[in-house]
Amino acid sequence: MPTVGRILVDEVQIKRRVDELAAELGSAFQSRQPMTVLAVLTGSFIFVADLCRRLQIPHRIGVVRASSYRGATVDPSDLHTDLSLAPDVRGRHVLLVDDILDTGATLARLVREIAALQPASITTAVLLRKIGRQTVPIEPDYVGFDIPDLFVVGYGLDYNDDYRHLPYIAALEQETAAT
Ligand code: IMP
Ligand code: MG
Repeated sequence: MPTVGRILVDEVQIKRRVDELAAELGSAFQSRQPMTVLAVLTGSFIFVADLCRRLQIPHRIGVVRASSYRGATVDPSDLHTDLSLAPDVRGRHVLLVDDILDTGATLARLVREIAALQPASITTAVLLRKIGRQTVPIEPDYVGFDIPDLFVVGYGLDYNDDYRHLPYIAALEQETAAT
């Protein structure tokens, strides 16, 4: 069973960065209304909850789902998306928010699928971006933090649905065998 290791981003750093992002997004969306924030479940729920309360622009909030099996390896073919819970975004300016950009497959797929719903525009924001992991060419418009290539948990991010409640982002560590 892996354990929670080193803290990469603490509560204070998260709060400060979310404040900055909310201010930047507020200015950017001043001229892009009406606005709809789409949270990618489940990992982004805490980030979105904090971000939207600081966003000084009226907006609707909706959710989409994405899941991919992640154990020791990642199989990109095993990506499932579900837009059935999303509100109608036709003609609206969408801010798509995910927890982390890893290979880029999830965000790229969701952007493509949301584009088919004919929004006025799509802007993407991720709390975290793993350095050196992107295999699908997509650049998020807004990034909270660049982090090293480690599996991380906390602030919404999970390992088998555990650890989402942690108020910080920490690396998950494989327990080394006792010697
Ligand atoms: P991508 O499609 O490879 O970019 O992966 C993005 C999704 O994988 C995110 O929405 C997360 O749900 C999940 N993910 C990727 N890396 C991590 C991690 O280090 N911790 C927890 N979830 C992760
Ligand atoms: Mg996710």
